[in-house]
Amino acid sequence: MRIPDEFIEELRQRNDIESVISSYVNLKRRGSNLVGLCPFHNEKTPSFTVYPSSNSYYCFGCGAGGDPITFIRGVENLDYIDAIKFLADRSGMRMPETGYDDSMQKLRMKVYEINRAAARFFHEQLKTESGKKGLAYFKSRELSAATIKHFGLGYAPDSWDSLYKHLRKLGYSDDLIFASDLISKRKSGNGYFDRFRDRVMFPIIDLRGNVIAFGGRRLSEDKTVAKYINSSDTPVYKKSTVLYAMNYAKNSKNKGIILAEGYMDVIALHQAGFDNAVAACGTAFTQEQARLLSRYTDEIIVTLDADEAGQKATNRTIEILKSTGIKIRVLRITDAKDPDEFIKKFGNEKFRMLIEGANNDIEYKLMAAKSKFDLSTDDGKLSALKQAAQILANTDDSIARDLYTGRIADEFGVSKDVLTRQISTIYKSRVSNEKKQHIEKEIKRASSSDRVNPERKYNTRTAIAEETIISLLMSDPSLYEYVNERIKPSDFLTRFNSRVFEYLIELLKNQKMPDISLFSAEFAPDEMGKIVEMLNKKVSLDAGREQIDDCVKVIFSDKKLKEATENDNEENWAETIKKITDIKRGSKK
Ligand code: UTP
Ligand code: MN
Repeated sequence: MRIPDEFIEELRQRNDIESVISSYVNLKRRGSNLVGLCPFHNEKTPSFTVYPSSNSYYCFGCGAGGDPITFIRGVENLDYIDAIKFLADRSGMRMPETGYDDSMQKLRMKVYEINRAAARFFHEQLKTESGKKGLAYFKSRELSAATIKHFGLGYAPDSWDSLYKHLRKLGYSDDLIFASDLISKRKSGNGYFDRFRDRVMFPIIDLRGNVIAFGGRRLSEDKTVAKYINSSDTPVYKKSTVLYAMNYAKNSKNKGIILAEGYMDVIALHQAGFDNAVAACGTAFTQEQARLLSRYTDEIIVTLDADEAGQKATNRTIEILKSTGIKIRVLRITDAKDPDEFIKKFGNEKFRMLIEGANNDIEYKLMAAKSKFDLSTDDGKLSALKQAAQILANTDDSIARDLYTGRIADEFGVSKDVLTRQISTIYKSRVSNEKKQHIEKEIKRASSSDRVNPERKYNTRTAIAEETIISLLMSDPSLYEYVNERIKPSDFLTRFNSRVFEYLIELLKNQKMPDISLFSAEFAPDEMGKIVEMLNKKVSLDAGREQIDDCVKVIFSDKKLKEATENDNEENWAETIKKITDIKRGSKK
């Protein structure tokens, strides 16, 4: 059972590729297509191409490609049906009744329910005798009752199974509760126990308001237990794509988004009026989180902890954010260990001033480099200068490079020309290294296309012929009968191409246009990339029939060759050789 083609067709018309993608990627027109930075891999020059005419996209950098549905699957991390629902919602369409297996969707709904029930349970605990210590903890961190409520904070009792029992009483099965990652299996093999015990609880909420996961902070000073425990990935939660408090920050009236280190910093910032603060939830900051931010803001203010670990994390975070092209500024917190402590010590106004005076990422790095060395000695100056040159050589913005080169030269009393030359040498070698890496990536991409069609590698000639037939047929469906009379899907040598061809023939037989959106029901996202590549391949339609003839000839001769060698064993060796020679001679005629 599948979604009716008519529904997909309407969905396609209401969600053209350009409008869908441009809410995620900044697209620039190039001829009849559009290009932008690929949201599926890290790149600095755009190789992500959108083809309005075929309603598809393809990235020449990583091979990702497909229709609007494939795009939404990838970027929103949804399965096929949920991606369709997403697009239907977006364009005000009602989902048709399908007999489709929606067990995954049902599981997800249940997990949402369980998470919500758990969040309520934890929150209610704050009002109980045993939960008093949780409330006391939040009070000691100067959180108001309104803040506690706003973030749905709570307390997980010091007990092995109170949440588990509670959820069982509400009627949820062990399997469902386990899928929500709120309980762990006992080592002995039977029975479960609560994952979060004697901890203050931070529910993590997605952009649609669902509770998707939890973070829990220990209350005891017992260093043998982890300070924070976070939910692992579940059917509704993928850590690396989520930012804590993004549900609120996305609606903030403040400028930019503040990226802080942890739950408590974020909450303290919101309470102080900086409701544009978010944090990663117990993971290092990721590429996916950077892309999420870039969809909601054009400026990020990074404010991680002031300690050495925090500075390292800051540098890593800046590198990741850079790929999005949004403006980055870095807050340097002094005289406090983190934003939470800073606000408590110096107040909101001082923090606002800190934000206003925050340096851009280059200034931040130059300052950090300088502060590492003793600038009163020549040795120290030289080392600082070397690092500064390195930092500037890493900057792609040539105006910024020139500006800061001048400043540094003045500051250190060296000639700007000499410094510029030095930086340009480092810069050039970096750029040439990046080119090399780019080429390596291209090679990898080619091998990823081998993964979709593993037989291609050993049958390149045939595969190309097969792909040409598919491309021709997609561009000119009127060739259908001509092709159908000459070759069948089972004649194709490589399995993937054979599947695509079979599907295509089926569409055409039913008088459907070979629209890319009709493929995404049948093919996985990585396969879609390959299909789009065939779809958008420039084929000359002038001599369509002749081309088909040539391709068919290649395929059949390779097929015979293959059959001949497959039957090959000791006895009919001579026979085989004779056959092969015959075939080769035949195909040359
Ligand atoms: P911090 O130790 O800085 O915690 O870790 P915090 O949020 O500032 O909390 P307080 O102020 O010490 O109470 C920063 C973030 O790193 C993750 C959590 O997401 C935390 O918010 N973390 C930290 C863990 O996931 N596990 C840990 O054991 C520690
Ligand atoms: Mn901290």
